[in-house]
Amino acid sequence: MEQAKKEIILSGIRSTGNLHLGNYYGALRKFVEIQDKHDCNFFIADLHALTTATDPEALHNSVKCVLAEYLAAGIDPEKATIFIQSDIPEVSEMYLLLNMHVGIGELMRTASFKDKARKALGIKAPGEGEEDSDEAFEHQIIGAETNKRVNAGLLTYPTLMAVDILIQKATKVPVGKDQLQHLELTRRFARRFNSFYGVDLFPEPSDFDLTGGKPVKVPGLDGSGKMGKSEGNCIYLVDDPKVLRKKVMRATTDEGPKEPNSPMSEPVANLFTLLELTSTPDVVTHFRDAYADCSIRYGDLKKQLAEDILAVTTPIRERVNDILSNEDYMRKVVREGAERARARASETLKEVRHIMGIRSI
Ligand code: TRP
Repeated sequence: MEQAKKEIILSGIRSTGNLHLGNYYGALRKFVEIQDKHDCNFFIADLHALTTATDPEALHNSVKCVLAEYLAAGIDPEKATIFIQSDIPEVSEMYLLLNMHVGIGELMRTASFKDKARKALGIKAPGEGEEDSDEAFEHQIIGAETNKRVNAGLLTYPTLMAVDILIQKATKVPVGKDQLQHLELTRRFARRFNSFYGVDLFPEPSDFDLTGGKPVKVPGLDGSGKMGKSEGNCIYLVDDPKVLRKKVMRATTDEGPKEPNSPMSEPVANLFTLLELTSTPDVVTHFRDAYADCSIRYGDLKKQLAEDILAVTTPIRERVNDILSNEDYMRKVVREGAERARARASETLKEVRHIMGIRSI
């Protein structure tokens, strides 16, 4: 069985909207590269999306979009297992079981929880250098009015993510930097479970660095930081050309270089980073030279950048639309994916139940 020897790779994307250029360069494109060599499992984390989603229709719609975007980007259901998290009911049951071995303290100290809990309560994060006191934070959560509650699903987000990984016995998990803490918790939970019951059930998953040591940071259009849904600075794979051009033309820049070979401000450097990702080397050189000798016109740079981004996104957008209009195909993909993912998940769940003493009489 060739398949069994392969490394099991698993990664998920939350269905909270459309995928953007950051998802494409940071994840999707890499997923496509590795799907030939490994046992790849890519899923749509709709239960995780539920921790922050409020509109059921939007959530459901987003599941379809992310699926279409996965496929349009080149993830091949013949090579990789593609599934929807909630199509694997074993995940929900194991989530309940694993929670018995997870401490609320360790969950409350997770950076992403603090972040999202503060957002839910509308409280500011402590500034740079200010103390982030656990006591004050806990106090705010416990004392929160119920109309501004922090839902318990947000707290147990890492348990659910650990279950996604452990139930498939995945060993390599490609994630972004912001998810490394969750992966660390997953390892801790795996070790804890194994040692508590004296078993060797879960392998400890490690981060799968797809960047070859050179992480791609895809910047946003607002001058600073990386592209992100919540930052509102995204270029979506499905943006239509008019929208996309407008976004790029409005990207933040500066007043332009005043002397030859000036250092670049962050907003301008970000545009160059995007150009490097999407353009040819000679185009990049042309604009770098123009920057260096102060002849650059940002309008020209942006026009070029918009067209080069469109050259990447247009075929994807067209495929997304084709796929979205073919519900039968999408249904078939996720049904077959779920079948494969469930086979492994139900094996693991059976073992977990047995180990924990949950057996019928
Ligand atoms: N939490 C991840 C994110 O927001 C998504 C995710 C859920 C995931 N379960 C996972 C990623 C399991 C890798 C493995 O990006």
